[in-house]
Amino acid sequence: MSKKRITYDNLMLEIEDGIALITIRRASKLNALNHDTVEDIRKAMNEVYHNSAIKSAIITGEGSKAFAAGADIAELAKLDEIGAKRYSQNGQDVYAMLENCPKPVIAAINGYALGGGCELALACHMRVAVESAKFGLPEVKLGTLPGFGGTQRLTQSIGKAKTLELIMTGDMLSAREAYELGLVNHVVASQEELFDKTREILRKIATSGPLAISMVIKSVNSVYSSYEAGYLKESLYFGHSANTEDFHEGMKAFLDKRSPNFKGE
Ligand code: COA
Repeated sequence: MSKKRITYDNLMLEIEDGIALITIRRASKLNALNHDTVEDIRKAMNEVYHNSAIKSAIITGEGSKAFAAGADIAELAKLDEIGAKRYSQNGQDVYAMLENCPKPVIAAINGYALGGGCELALACHMRVAVESAKFGLPEVKLGTLPGFGGTQRLTQSIGKAKTLELIMTGDMLSAREAYELGLVNHVVASQEELFDKTREILRKIATSGPLAISMVIKSVNSVYSSYEAGYLKESLYFGHSANTEDFHEGMKAFLDKRSPNFKGE
């Protein structure tokens, strides 16, 4: 089967057998999602929406260490309140493209899925993870909160109590724990099995009518349509957080490779 390949700055999209494999390629920064990479995801999703040769998509990270270790902290550190609110809303818009995509989109989680990486996985219709993957929304450790829809989609996925625990502690979950909470659909032993399992699911879906599948996606998503206001609040608070000393201390501490000294200011 021939493979068509489209290369973006930090992303690659390969079409094979009707499946678009989208790979985030910033392995040296654990596939951290800087603005350009988020924009590449937007372009790749436009391709998925409009290219009739694509019937479904998989999103994954390059290498075996990280799916994506979050938004790019070096970029976040430079944001003021307005910039942070925009940054959050832009990320939310791009992730909504995954969630509302009329074709099935599965996250193949090959390693760390933290912060914006975990939120990216949550925006997909399903998640398949390798045993060694780790999940978490550790933004509070940086003096901020999830800003790409994580406060909303994690609550939808695992409920309020566990969401609050995970976001307030910033703890990481193993793939098994994520599976037990219903955050992940399947856990597999190796990276090879990750793609076998993901493709197996997509090939099964492809035997059914694509219009019916797109209507299933729309109908299930409509259960959560009342969350609109929550996404807006999340962006506002993400912006407000950038107006605090704790935000800049948290980001700087990560980049300086030291523990933060939060003062609640
Ligand atoms: N943004 C920017 N750079 C990041 C990053 C992020 N979210 N996550 C990792 N990196 C960079 C590191 O700064 C480092 O770069 P350097 O080699 O130039 O110093 C490189 O990726 C490798 O990361 P490192 O921290 O050295 O790897 P590790 O194995 O010691 O730790 C993690 C792995 C995932 C635990 C750690 O990188 C981490 O905590 N990342 C941030 C996670 C996070 O808070 N995400 C939410 C962001 S809002």
